Amino acid sequence: MNKPDFEHFIGFLKTKAGIVITAEKAYLVENRLSPVARKHGIASADAVLAKLRQVPSAALVNDVLDAMTTNETLFFRDQRPFDQFRETVLPALMERNAATKRIRIWSAACSSGQEAYSLAMMFSELGAKVAGWRLEIVGTDISKTILDRARKAEYSQFEVQRGLPITMLVKYFEQKGEAWALKPDIKSKVSFREFNLLDNPRALGQFDVVFCRNVLIYFDHPTKADILGRIAGIMPADGYLFLGGAETVLGVSDKFAAAPGLRGIYLPSDKAAARAA
Ligand SMILES: C[S@@+](CC[C@H](N)C(=O)[O-])C[C@H]1O[C@@H](n2cnc3c(N)ncnc32)[C@H](O)[C@@H]1O
Repeated sequence: MNKPDFEHFIGFLKTKAGIVITAEKAYLVENRLSPVARKHGIASADAVLAKLRQVPSAALVNDVLDAMTTNETLFFRDQRPFDQFRETVLPALMERNAATKRIRIWSAACSSGQEAYSLAMMFSELGAKVAGWRLEIVGTDISKTILDRARKAEYSQFEVQRGLPITMLVKYFEQKGEAWALKPDIKSKVSFREFNLLDNPRALGQFDVVFCRNVLIYFDHPTKADILGRIAGIMPADGYLFLGGAETVLGVSDKFAAAPGLRGIYLPSDKAAARAA
């Protein structure tokens, strides 16, 4: 690949999405941008990089960003965060929010929606225990294409076989040709919005719980710290942040601290300090 074009592309990705790639990832760029080149009638992935240095169309920028994001996800990913949410976090929130009977959750970088819908199904399974409560789940992602998939809520046989208990598949989905479509009842519990984690989330409102899992790994240290700082800004002092298994706030941001005894869950620093005292 042409070196100056590739170097410009590294900066472009970092500025637009926060995503950091290194020169060794040229093969990945080539693989992912070749279909974009075909779609836009551009000769090659190399030529896409050259075009990005001129005045690219919004559609090309969008498709390039879509192609460069990794959308790997599954229902009830890692299971433990969902168990911790049900067993520990939800009871604490129900005590705290007893007056409003309302809980808001943000699935940040939600990909095709499995995390958000897993939470909605889990909540529904609690039946009478949560009667009268309203769980509002907002899923956001930078990729328009993946958000369209999330909104559609139709999953392949392969996707429903990953993490989703068969009892939930039967209860909450109906077969639609080759795919499995989530029933409207669960679908309506989640709304989706386009949102870049490099932006300020204030317009999304306050959230009691933020799931921001398996996305910080793509960013550099200062970007992670900025994102965590902005997330802290839209949570109450007694909110909960869930990160992915390979992610931590430790050594990255002092806005959150590990929740005692709850691996992968972080509390705004003030609350963590009060708990430790
Ligand atoms: C690997 S998926 C993680 C999905 C889900 N959170 C999970 O843990 O299974 C990462 C998602 O982050 C999104 N993403 C990447 N950069 C982003 C950014 N700057 N703002 C918002 N979403 C971003 C991608 O589009 C992708 O859907």
